Amino acid sequence: MNKYFLSIMSILILFQSFRVLDEILYHHDDVEVRGYKIIDKENTRNNETKEEVKIELDIENLFTNADLKKGRKLSKQCASCHDFSKNLSIKIGPPLWGIVDRKTAIIADYKYSKSLSKVKRNWTKLELFNFLEEPKEYLKGTSMMYKGLKKIDDRIDLISYLESLR
Ligand code: HEC
Repeated sequence: MNKYFLSIMSILILFQSFRVLDEILYHHDDVEVRGYKIIDKENTRNNETKEEVKIELDIENLFTNADLKKGRKLSKQCASCHDFSKNLSIKIGPPLWGIVDRKTAIIADYKYSKSLSKVKRNWTKLELFNFLEEPKEYLKGTSMMYKGLKKIDDRIDLISYLESLR
């Protein structure tokens, strides 16, 4: 046992503790939601930072853990303005029976806002997912006065409930 050996040992120990520290301080996981990466290629807004762009939305994957019951509860937030039944009754808003993959603004007797009438798309799950986060932000000029559902899981659960309405 000599002092060279001792100093090599202490260097090794020091080195190892740096690695542990580094692991503790700088350990980043990829952004994951319910174990899935989010890919949102279609709707990457210009002002998003790189970090946000990295969030990728693989919408189908998100739905594998959807909680339909929770979605039904959340739909109470919409029920004051929307009918969910097959009757397709018009309330303050258009009826939502069969809304998933339905064409936008297609209920003939409903007077849509100009901005929603102009949108010629389908209400895909991804479209609903983005719209429901903050409707007035996503569709400027919409007459839907609803603050939005901020939590990703809430939107996923709600949309899976909407999908069951067919
Ligand atoms: C305060 C009333 C109100 C609430 C609450 C509300 N909406 Fe709406 N919603 C509207 C109105 C009004 C429109 C028509 C928007 C337009 O024409 O711009 C609309 C339109 C929609 C559309 C487009 C339908 C179509 O035929 O193109 C969807 C989808 C929708 N709402 C989903 C929801 C969901 C899901 C909720 C609950 C999370 C919700 N809304 C909560 C009033 C509301």
